[in-house]
Amino acid sequence: MADLDDLREGNEFGLGVEATAQGFHVKGAANLPWGMKDRLSRIFNPKTGRAVMLAFDHGFIMGPTSGVERIDLNIVPLVEYADCLMCTRGILQSSIPANVNKPICLRSDAGTSILTELNDNVVMDIEDAIRMNVSAMAIMLAIGDPTFEAKTIANLYKAVDRGSRYNIPIMGVTAVGKQMERDARYFGLASRICAENGATIVKTYYCDGFDKVVAACPVPIVIAGGKKLPEKEALELCYKAINEGAAGVDMGRNVFQSTSPAAMIQAVHAVVHDNLTPDQGYEMFMDLSE
Ligand code: R5P
Repeated sequence: MADLDDLREGNEFGLGVEATAQGFHVKGAANLPWGMKDRLSRIFNPKTGRAVMLAFDHGFIMGPTSGVERIDLNIVPLVEYADCLMCTRGILQSSIPANVNKPICLRSDAGTSILTELNDNVVMDIEDAIRMNVSAMAIMLAIGDPTFEAKTIANLYKAVDRGSRYNIPIMGVTAVGKQMERDARYFGLASRICAENGATIVKTYYCDGFDKVVAACPVPIVIAGGKKLPEKEALELCYKAINEGAAGVDMGRNVFQSTSPAAMIQAVHAVVHDNLTPDQGYEMFMDLSE
């Protein structure tokens, strides 16, 4: 039994002071349960509302491409600068130390390779995501693909059902087929479909008219970096996306294929969280690269 000696009567009730109103810093998440909000808060910094996610799930489609040949050598040294790690369960368990204490956005679907394009897509068990204590699960949608659109929307839908049981947010990842236009109309459609089907985060691409894509998507959008660009252009991409409403980046190749990946992720972080201009970000990159 608790020690009852010196049990003090409460007398600071703040009478006349309104109960503190609790806002929430993640778009569209104000009505979500506490566990979901806790996980989203691990990804999106409560001070800025933004996130730098380091994506290194590329091997699950592309194999050991440039920059992800050796996760222990190429990626683990960057982990300290990322707000969240996006990878597959195989890489998480085999190559990421369990004491890095970073939120994980787990790539949770599979069935595609660069050799065969999109195949019969499957989603991993929610129990495995729980066992790995992930903060979100990422599921790809192939909007506009006549064969796999319905299948991948159903994947997202089911993942949201299962994620809701355990308060695990689902990130909808908008894939772009080769025949798709990379424009605001397409990304606006794909992003909105993710959100309408219950995704609490959407990953898509920056494009002209991106502000409209963001405006019409009721949950936070993070942008993929896409193919490797010169560092300054990649920082410009981050800057434009953030200034047009993105809640962050989920960036891979433009970080781990950089001439100085550690410098690049720190510069990206400063553009995303500290509103550095591309010039300032590039200066930071150059300073840190030395
Ligand atoms: C998306 O589905 C991929 O798996 C990558 O996570 C994504 O494209 C982000 O990486 P990158 O910045 O290299 O495009």
